[in-house]
Amino acid sequence: MKTARGKRSAPFRELAELRARLAEAEETLRSIHTGEVDAVVVAGKHGPQVFTLKGAEHAYRVLIESMNEGALTLTVDKMILYANQCFARMVKCPLEQVVGSSFRRFLSAEDRAALRRLLRLADRSGSKIQVLLHAGDGSQVPAHISLRPLARNGPKSAIFGMVVTDMTEARRTEQLLRALTHRVVQVQETERGRVALELHDNITQLLCAILVRCQTLASKLSPCDGPLKREAIILREMLGQTAGEVVRISRHLRPSVLDELGLVAVLRDTSAEFAERTGVALKLSCVELTARLPAEAELALYRILQEALKNVEKHARARRVTVCLSQQGGCAQLAIKDDGIGFDLDSPPARRSEEGGLGLLSMRERASYVGGALEVKSVRHSGTRIEVRIHLPPPSTAKRRRSKG
Ligand SMILES: Nc1ncnc2c1ncn2[C@@H]1O[C@H](COP(=O)(O)OP(=O)(O)OP(=O)(O)O)[C@@H](O)[C@H]1O
Ligand SMILES: [Mg+2]
Repeated sequence: MKTARGKRSAPFRELAELRARLAEAEETLRSIHTGEVDAVVVAGKHGPQVFTLKGAEHAYRVLIESMNEGALTLTVDKMILYANQCFARMVKCPLEQVVGSSFRRFLSAEDRAALRRLLRLADRSGSKIQVLLHAGDGSQVPAHISLRPLARNGPKSAIFGMVVTDMTEARRTEQLLRALTHRVVQVQETERGRVALELHDNITQLLCAILVRCQTLASKLSPCDGPLKREAIILREMLGQTAGEVVRISRHLRPSVLDELGLVAVLRDTSAEFAERTGVALKLSCVELTARLPAEAELALYRILQEALKNVEKHARARRVTVCLSQQGGCAQLAIKDDGIGFDLDSPPARRSEEGGLGLLSMRERASYVGGALEVKSVRHSGTRIEVRIHLPPPSTAKRRRSKG
C-alpha cells in the first residue's frame, strides 16, 4: 500500500512542481511585459535565456525613469529587455508593447544595418548613430542613439545599454538656422549686386566724365604752363587708376564677367588678383567642363573661392595655394588647397576665432543651396583643403544656357 501510494504521489508531486514552474514563468512574463523586472527570460536560438540586470536598484530605476531621454537595455539580437517610459512616449507605443519586442521594428532597413554595425563596434567601446525612428502612429522621429556594452551573461548574450535622444527640436532649430543663413547669403548677394550697379552706373560714369575733362584741360594747357600742365597730367593718371579700382571693386561685388566669359575666366581673374596682391604663389588648373553650370552654381563656386582665399590671406600664413577646377563623373569639383598652419576642425568656432566667423558656414550654405556639397579638411601645420562638388546639368540644359548667353 505504502509503495502503491508512494508510486501514485510521484506524478502528483511532478504535476504540482510543473504548476509552480508555470506560475513562476507566467509571473516572469507579466513582469517582462510591464517592465517591472530586473531579470528577464528571452527565447533565443539555443532555448530560453535568463538575463539579469545586476545592480539595478530602485534609485537607478527612478533616475532612468525621470530622464528626458529614452533608456533601454538590449540583447545582442536587439530584443528590448527594458525601456523607460520616455522611450515609449517617443515611439508612441505602450510600454508593455515595447518591452520584449525587437528594437528593429522602430528602424528602416538602412538604419537596421547601421545599428548592426554599431553593435559590432559597441562591443568594444561606446558608439553613436543618427536614425529615424518609426513611431507607432506612423510618424518618424529623428533620434540620436548611443550604445554601450553593459554586461555579458554568457558568450553569446551580451547586454547593451542604449540612450535615445529625440532630435526633433534640434533638427527644427538647425533648419531655422539654415534658412536664416540662406537668407543672409541671399540678402548679401542682392545688396552686393545693388552696390555694384550703383558704382558702375554712377561713380564710374562720373569718374570717366572728370577724366575726360582732365584730359581736355591737360591738352589745352601749353608747355609754358609747366607745373600746371604736369599737375593736370598727374591728376588724369590718378583718376584713371581710381576708375580702374572702382571697376575692380564692382566686379568683385558682382562679376558680370561670369555671365559674359564664364567660370574659368572668373577663377583666373580672382586667382591672379590674389597672387598679385598678397604675394602668395598660386597655381591654377582648370578643365573645360563638359556642360555649363547654372548661373547660381557658377556664382556659388566663385563666392566659395573668394571666401576660401580670404581665409588663406587672413589665417593660413601659407606660401603656396593651388586652385583646381576639375570634372569628376557628373560633378564639377573645385578644390582650394593651402600649405599653411591649418586648424582644428573639431574645436568650436568660438574658440577658433573671437567672434566665430561666418565664412565656412556661408561656403557650406552656398554649396548646399545649389545642391552641392562642401568638405573641409585641415591638418595643423600642414594646411587646409576646401573641396566643393556640384552636379553638372544634363547636356541639353547646358546647351540652352550657352545659346542664351
Ligand atoms: N585656410 C585656413 N587656414 C587656417 N585657418 C583657417 C583657414 N580657414 C579657416 N580657418 C580657421 O577657421 C576659422 C573660421 O573661419 P571662417 O571663415 O568661418 O571665419 P573667419 O574667417 O574667422 O571670419 P569671417 O569669414 O566671417 O570673416 C577661422 O577663424 C580660422 O581660425
Ligand atoms: Mg573667413
